[in-house]
Amino acid sequence: MASGESQSDREKAAAGEAAAELVEAGMRVGLGTGSTVERFLPALARRAPRDIRCVATSAATEAQAAALGLPVEPFETLERLDIAIDGADEVDPDGWLIKGGGGALLREKVVAAAAERFVVLVSAEKLVPRLRRALPLELLAFGLAATLAELGSATLRAGAPPSPDGGRIADLAVPLDDPAALARRLDAIPGVVGHGLFPPAMVAELFVAGRRVAPAELPDLIAAAG
Ligand code: 5RP
Repeated sequence: MASGESQSDREKAAAGEAAAELVEAGMRVGLGTGSTVERFLPALARRAPRDIRCVATSAATEAQAAALGLPVEPFETLERLDIAIDGADEVDPDGWLIKGGGGALLREKVVAAAAERFVVLVSAEKLVPRLRRALPLELLAFGLAATLAELGSATLRAGAPPSPDGGRIADLAVPLDDPAALARRLDAIPGVVGHGLFPPAMVAELFVAGRRVAPAELPDLIAAAG
């Protein structure tokens, strides 16, 4: 165990180890983005399943995966993925996720939607009684000021580079007590090309540290954590 590792780091590593076991020879694999995925990738490389094909949701993930000897290709010709593995910023008792802390939310959602199984890895502090962080958005550069005006309480993320697809990363500070209604509202704004709300139906498996947690367990687990 590396010195100076936090409990959260250890839980992310445990989740990464558990997720690496899910990847089998010949699978087409979507690789998420963030510090949890950074811990999953070496575990996957050690396991080295034969003949896998990987697509990455960010340049950082692509570079790390390639350095580890994992075969990464552009996500252009693969029609489906067998599995996609990613982290999350928050998980609520109903299983809604907020993603996009690393600004890769649009590619992460495209990859998750293309996968037969979208597997989410979190440390325990990501489980929250209600979603509360500002919601990451990717906005079309064209008409940006008009989209921001329509959103009202979104701010461009300071220092965030444009996404690989040219979008601008912003964060929306609004109440998140009805994620489904908010997702519908955002989906209806043309300049919002992506948002970080991922519905429970999208998630096939959730690992909290090294343990797979069923959706029905979430409310009690979150309540017990206080
Ligand atoms: C990046 C993401 C990440 O999955 C999310 O921010 C969690 O990050 P980390 O694994 O570093 O805690 O959505 O856009």
